[in-house]
Amino acid sequence: MAEELERPGAEQWVPESGGIAALRRAAPGCRGCELWEPATQVVFSSGSAHARIVMVGEEPGDAEDLAGEPFVGPAGKLLRRAIEEAGIAMEEVYLTNAIKHFSFVQRGKRRIHRKPDLAQMVACRPWLEAELRYVDPDLTVLLGASAARQVLGPGIKVTQQRGQVLTRETTLGERRFIPTVHPSSILRARERRHDAYAAFVADLKVVAKAV
Ligand code: URA
Ligand code: SF4
Repeated sequence: MAEELERPGAEQWVPESGGIAALRRAAPGCRGCELWEPATQVVFSSGSAHARIVMVGEEPGDAEDLAGEPFVGPAGKLLRRAIEEAGIAMEEVYLTNAIKHFSFVQRGKRRIHRKPDLAQMVACRPWLEAELRYVDPDLTVLLGASAARQVLGPGIKVTQQRGQVLTRETTLGERRFIPTVHPSSILRARERRHDAYAAFVADLKVVAKAV
């Protein structure tokens, strides 16, 4: 019960109208789960509310928490380079995350990324649902398993279904999604990094072609 009280979920903080601008204004006040407290600030999204492509990551990292902007750290730089190489204009992309606050454990001076748990994912979901409703993109790219599960549910297998256009019935009607890996997995790939990066760009080329 105490757990539930600590995690009411974001719904009551998500404005019912006003578009992406209203969401962005309201997000700093969210107390939908406990992650807001140790974080520096909320990291909402970047890009145009009229973008044709939405890309969803997992959660902001250390650099994003400090900057207040998604995908500005090492994984984000890799993602932006891959987007460009795939021939997608950055103006066509709305970048966001499944979770809006940085989840971490403190180790001395370092803050180490901690995978958000299921309750935190569920708590934060109303924000992403509202973003997808307002932006209503042609295509939603799911970067990694957390984003894929947040949007498509637990049955999705990113390794098997990456780079495929999946059509799903949503509350908005039929919508298209493409799962792929998270850019941080490429940074972790070490000697396989070159191949992993090429495969990621190939998935993003499917995106470029599909819109
Ligand atoms: N990783 C993510 O999933 N999102 C960010 O914003 C940065 C890194
Ligand atoms: Fe709200 Fe999401 Fe932040 Fe939790 S992580 S406080 S639900 S915005």
